[in-house]
Amino acid sequence: TGLQDNTSAKRGFWSSRLAFILAATGSAVGLGNIWKFPYITGENGGGAFVLVYLLCIAVVGIPIMMAEVLIGRRGGHSPVNSLRLITERDRLNPLWKLVGAIGILAGFLILSFYSVIGGWALSYVGTSASGQFTGQTAETVGAIFSGLLSDPVTLLAWHSLFMALVMTVVARGVRSGLERATGILMPSLFILLLVMVGYAMTSGHFSAALSFLFQPDFSKLTTSGVLEALGHAFFTLSLGMAVMMAYGSYLPKNVSITRASITVSVMDTGVALLAGLAIFPIVFANGLEPGAGPGLIFQTLPLAFGQMPMGSIFGTLFFVLLVFAAWTSGISLLEPIVEWLEEQKGMNRTLSTLVAGLTCWLLGIASILSLNLWADVAPLGMFAAFEGKTVFDLLDYLTANILLPLGGLLVAVMVGWFMSKQALQNELSLSAGSFRLWHNTLKFVTPIAVLVVFFYNLS
Ligand code: PHE
Ligand code: NA
Repeated sequence: TGLQDNTSAKRGFWSSRLAFILAATGSAVGLGNIWKFPYITGENGGGAFVLVYLLCIAVVGIPIMMAEVLIGRRGGHSPVNSLRLITERDRLNPLWKLVGAIGILAGFLILSFYSVIGGWALSYVGTSASGQFTGQTAETVGAIFSGLLSDPVTLLAWHSLFMALVMTVVARGVRSGLERATGILMPSLFILLLVMVGYAMTSGHFSAALSFLFQPDFSKLTTSGVLEALGHAFFTLSLGMAVMMAYGSYLPKNVSITRASITVSVMDTGVALLAGLAIFPIVFANGLEPGAGPGLIFQTLPLAFGQMPMGSIFGTLFFVLLVFAAWTSGISLLEPIVEWLEEQKGMNRTLSTLVAGLTCWLLGIASILSLNLWADVAPLGMFAAFEGKTVFDLLDYLTANILLPLGGLLVAVMVGWFMSKQALQNELSLSAGSFRLWHNTLKFVTPIAVLVVFFYNLS
């Protein structure tokens, strides 16, 4: 399979620790950080939401990432096979393999709309390069974005191109080249975001953005906002769907799972916070609405690119890097389904990529239509919880807020309650105190947090 190809391809120049960090960061850092984090932060009133999100990363995200990586390394195979091996070897209930099934379903559903947003980013590469943002006002930049959303054919073309990019790489199975590129392109994205933050500082509205992001006003926090923060912690770290299990099988025994997991989580969080710091000063400087929704970055960053020196070049570069970040995440979303088709249905890699990719592409069309022709269609609108939610909203809600936390809950309970402590400690080799902290967090804090948040939202 592709992962095994990868494992052999990485031998040589790239150390395995780096191979893991690159693959895991490639999956984690994506549209979740730059597109989703700022807009849901804006919708949920800022500071208090950010605080809960950071708490979720620390208390739920990092312990679960460690657990997933641990399963992957102990199992040493694809997630489905790793889970099978571990449940057999450690005599656990075979039902824990459900985590793999959730991963396959969640990856499929997420990629269908992720690719549509990846398409927006692709289309903005061209818009920036042609200088269309230069000197524009908030109104005209907003009009360019609404123009894109209202045009299903153009959206379909970009969605198709993004899906083709993802499928091409997954079909070939070997990704070491792309992962090597992650080591250059992710730092470039980071630096470019720093430049944007620097530019935002000169706008005169930087302190307003700082207090919006970091001064918690708990009166603005709702129970659904807490669920969204929790769900986003899973989404942004690529947790709850066995992706990190797949990459954990890369990791040699002498590398610290704890340090590798913390490194990936810190980098991911850093990119999200930088994106927030780059975007909100522009929002306040131009009197825009922080809660503008999914279009937020596409309506704010182009304003900055349009005003700053060499803005077309910076803008083009930025959207190219955003596409790359989304691409490496998209690959990790498609991989589980393709692997499952190969292993369980006996299809070859090309055929399984075609079947999985084209089905996903087809479902993506529903998300495209929900941005224009079906904008008023709420398929589950008869339930109060889903009132006014379009197909796109529903897919996002179901995956990020329900499936991923559920997958993470299963991992936490399986590892925290059912795997032998000795086996876990052998993998982690932590000090007794740190091990206890991690184990108790996974055993009690994580499941209780997820269950309480679920209960308040679904009751
Ligand atoms: N973590 C990715 C992002 O932030 C999205 C993703 C979710 C990728 C789940 C893989 C699995 O954009
Ligand atoms: Na992310």
